[in-house]
Amino acid sequence: MSGIAEGDGRTVHPQHLEPSELGTKEYWESFYDNSLSHYLSSKRDGRKRREQDKSLDEEDEDEDEDEEDDDSDPGTSWFTEHNAPQKVLDFMTSDRFPLAPEQMESDRQPTILDLGTGNGSMLTLLREEGEYTGPMVGVDYSPKSVELARQLTERIPEAQDIQFEVWDILDPKHEEDIRRGAFGEDIGWFPSKDGGFDIVLDKGTFDAVSLSGERICEKYPGIALELVKKGGFLIITSCNWTESELVAWFTGDKDGFTVYDRVEYPKFRFGGQEGQGVCTICFQRRDI
Ligand SMILES: C[S@@+](CC[C@H](N)C(=O)[O-])C[C@H]1O[C@@H](n2cnc3c(N)ncnc32)[C@H](O)[C@@H]1O
Repeated sequence: MSGIAEGDGRTVHPQHLEPSELGTKEYWESFYDNSLSHYLSSKRDGRKRREQDKSLDEEDEDEDEDEEDDDSDPGTSWFTEHNAPQKVLDFMTSDRFPLAPEQMESDRQPTILDLGTGNGSMLTLLREEGEYTGPMVGVDYSPKSVELARQLTERIPEAQDIQFEVWDILDPKHEEDIRRGAFGEDIGWFPSKDGGFDIVLDKGTFDAVSLSGERICEKYPGIALELVKKGGFLIITSCNWTESELVAWFTGDKDGFTVYDRVEYPKFRFGGQEGQGVCTICFQRRDI
């Protein structure tokens, strides 16, 4: 973990993290490939068992019993341990958050994009338990993640219309599009007429990108900004960066994001220092 890097007249941001395999596409593709195989084989086993049960004229067991998605990788289980999905859901459905469904007209529900969606579980949670009924898109650069997210949502009636797409947030082409003022023109799922999504989510994706080496994470805040409409929100959850580091990364541009709110997590003391395992910051894009 690091402090703020020395200013050199250009953008001041926290020091980079040591690269790790969690910052590579190969790692995530192989992880979601395993999760998908595991999911499909438990689904098959579950179906076979139910057929046997049926032929024995027994009561049908709960369909989902063997169909849980695998949450055992170091990149996502840490968040679950710290109850991050539930904390983000609680924040997004509270009266602290201006786009919470209860505060919106039913025909003006916010649009949501989930960056690096993984198995899509944050979106399905918001749909099933958060009463978010507006358009939702989850993107990930791993095709296997997108396949897994689509498979997992198949069994959830409320989640059928969630769109999952393969998309690399850091494709160099986006920078060129931003320069030309043409960002989003060739992405069918991008709400161009609104100038972006009402809410963009990131849970662990900036973390993964920050571990990739090559310093490509420096480009991430600028791309994220283009995805959020003016006045909209970016809610980012991290286990690699502290709150102040996240703020430094995302508020560097004076026309960009400001800090709107933060989610509370339990604090712990270690070696005389106070810390927390996870942080979530809600940024708002300036409406200028
Ligand atoms: C730690 S996982 C988090 C997954 C999910 N958000 C969750 O909370 O379970 C990081 C995710 O970011 C994705 N990712 C990393 N770099 C990306 C990029 N450049 N473009 C799109 N997705 C990316 C990975 O494939 C992986 O699904």
